[in-house]
Amino acid sequence: MHNVEQLVAAATAEFAGINDAAQLEQAKARYLGKSGSLTELLKSLGQMPAEERRSAGASINRAKEQIETLLSARRETIKRAALENQLDVSALDITLPGRGRGCGGLHPTVRTLERIEQLFRSIGFEVADGPEIEADWYNFTALNTPENHPARSMHDTFYLENTPGVLLRTHTSPVQIRYMQEHVVQYGHLEHMPEIRIIAPGRVYRVDSDATHSPMFHQVEGLWVGENVSFADLKGVVADFLRRFFESDDLKVRFRPSFFPFTEPSAEIDVAFMSGALEGRWLEIAGCGMVHPKVLRNGGIDPDKYTGFAFGMGPDRLTMLRYGIDDLRLFFDGDLRFLSQFN
Ligand code: PHE
Repeated sequence: MHNVEQLVAAATAEFAGINDAAQLEQAKARYLGKSGSLTELLKSLGQMPAEERRSAGASINRAKEQIETLLSARRETIKRAALENQLDVSALDITLPGRGRGCGGLHPTVRTLERIEQLFRSIGFEVADGPEIEADWYNFTALNTPENHPARSMHDTFYLENTPGVLLRTHTSPVQIRYMQEHVVQYGHLEHMPEIRIIAPGRVYRVDSDATHSPMFHQVEGLWVGENVSFADLKGVVADFLRRFFESDDLKVRFRPSFFPFTEPSAEIDVAFMSGALEGRWLEIAGCGMVHPKVLRNGGIDPDKYTGFAFGMGPDRLTMLRYGIDDLRLFFDGDLRFLSQFN
């Protein structure tokens, strides 16, 4: 049948020129769709004389199969072309020279913390930690800080919304209480409890922000509790630590009387360098004192039998002094030009 062969030839030519999957499906509809040309031919079979119908029907069906074969071959070709195109576009040029692999390093604050831990471990301190989201009781009440103390105001302390009595710890001192309590649970039954000798490094938070204050900064708490711990021990431990930290024997260390609710007596620790840009200037780096009897008691420890000292120092400050950095915010900006200088 002439018509049928023409149709197959037309379809062959048309499909060959199509490179787009959607267009191909539209072309298919023109032949095999409800009112496609081949479908129309099939419908016309009814009007044919019976003797012609049989062979005409057969050849239409053959044409239909041919067109379907053509279609699926073309579909394949279009699909493969699309895939190859995509591979080309996203091809990896393995002849390009490499860009070099950047090597990360430790943040200066982390370096300082590791150094502090190492120095205190060498004299028998353990490293402890506690939660940054803290209960008001551990952060203030247990540390003998009165209800109306200014540090407790919303002005100075971040409180958690809708969670009364919970805050971001303003110092690492709550670790003192937590550690004492755990120590007592473990050793409280003994006639002579082992000494507590810990440092507790970590992040603390205050409503404060300028060149020398950041709302998040670091502290390292120190605590030594035993049967005969004195202020002289405090001075010895801290002065020795500072000389080793700054690798300088002629560093001056000064204890200046101060006040903290959780220590009595209390002092501020200042250092002065004997050379360099900061020569002769006293710089405050820590608070300290003998642990207040009420604080020992809140930790479960008998203040008539045990005494202790505590200190809280600012490792960010120590890092600034050690490397001569004048803006605290540089530590937290994540600027590689600054940070890469420490590696
Ligand atoms: N927690 C005090 C502060 O943040 C520092 C301190 C710790 C003082 C331990 C005395 C003893 O200012």
